[in-house]
This record gives sequence, C-alpha cells and structure tokens, in this order.
Amino acid sequence: MTRPAAAAKTPPMAEAFNDKTLPEAKAERYAAVAGEIAAVLDGEPNLTARMATVASMLASSFEDYFWTGFYVVDPDKPDELVVGPYQGTLGCLRIAFGRGVCGTAARTRQTQVVEDVHAFPGHIACDSRSASEIVVPVVDAQGRLIAVFDVDSERPAAFDAVDAEWLERILLRTFAGA
Ligand code: SME
Repeated sequence: MTRPAAAAKTPPMAEAFNDKTLPEAKAERYAAVAGEIAAVLDGEPNLTARMATVASMLASSFEDYFWTGFYVVDPDKPDELVVGPYQGTLGCLRIAFGRGVCGTAARTRQTQVVEDVHAFPGHIACDSRSASEIVVPVVDAQGRLIAVFDVDSERPAAFDAVDAEWLERILLRTFAGA
C-alpha cells in the first residue's frame, strides 16, 4: 500500500515497525516488540524519547492497551508522580505515592496486576472505560525509582503474569540497562 506523503517524514525504522506483522501468541509478541524497542532506542540517551518510544511501540502492538504510559517521580516532590509520555485519552496529571494503583506500585515498588479496577481500594478513575490494569515500577541503573509504567484496558482481567514478566524485562532493559 502506498502511504501518504506526510508519512515520508517518519524515520525508516519506525515506519518499518508500524507495518510489521507481529506474532499472535502474547509472549512471542512481547519478545518481538522488546527486540524492536531495543533496536530503535540504541544510542538514544534522552529519557523522554525513551519513554515516549516505549509507550508508542507497546500501545500499537497490543489490542488490550487502551491507555499506555509513564507517571514519573517528580524531582521537586519526591512523594508524587506526574504524568509523563503516554498514548491514550487524557490522563490525571498527578498521583501521590500510595494512592490508586500507580501510587501503590510506586510506594511498594512491586508490579500491580489488577483484574478489576473498581474493586481496587482508592483506584483513580481517569477514564471510566478502564476495567483492568497493570502498573510496573521503573528503576534506573542505580536502582532508584524514576517512574511507573501504567497500562489500562477496557477488558476486565486483561493482564496476567506474562504481561508482568515481559514488561518488567523491557523496562529494566530500557531504563536500567539490565
Ligand atoms: N489507573 C491509575 C490512574 C492513572 S490512569 O488510569 C491513566 C491508578 O489508579 O493508579
């Protein structure tokens, strides 16, 4: 298919990714996207560029990703998350540590897999269409918490241990160089 002229500005690698046919099985799909993310980000040190690329590439790879993005630790308020690069409908701007699913992931530094967000105490409903979510803490090479990565789905119980394992792996590799 011929693409419109405006698309010609897209760098070749990103365009190749958008046209890619990914494997059907979830784990294989994550493995393929993980390799693509590493290839696109090779040599790019800017944190915003890295976060925006991870959010875009994962959001465009999975049907269940309705809202996909980062809440970063605010350098001026270390107990507060502020919205970072994301794909999806308007997200809340700030989340205190300990509040909702993102705040719980930040405080505990544990991945949160929530099958039914409405049953989660203190869940913050930025968009009422969200039914389930996964939030993964993001650390840098020194092990410091820099953000959380939040994915919301319109489908209940959309995320499981496969999502947790692969997202943890992708985020460690991308932000801690591990
Ligand atoms: N679901 C999150 C809030 C952020 S948004 O849904 C974009 C939470 O409860 O932490």
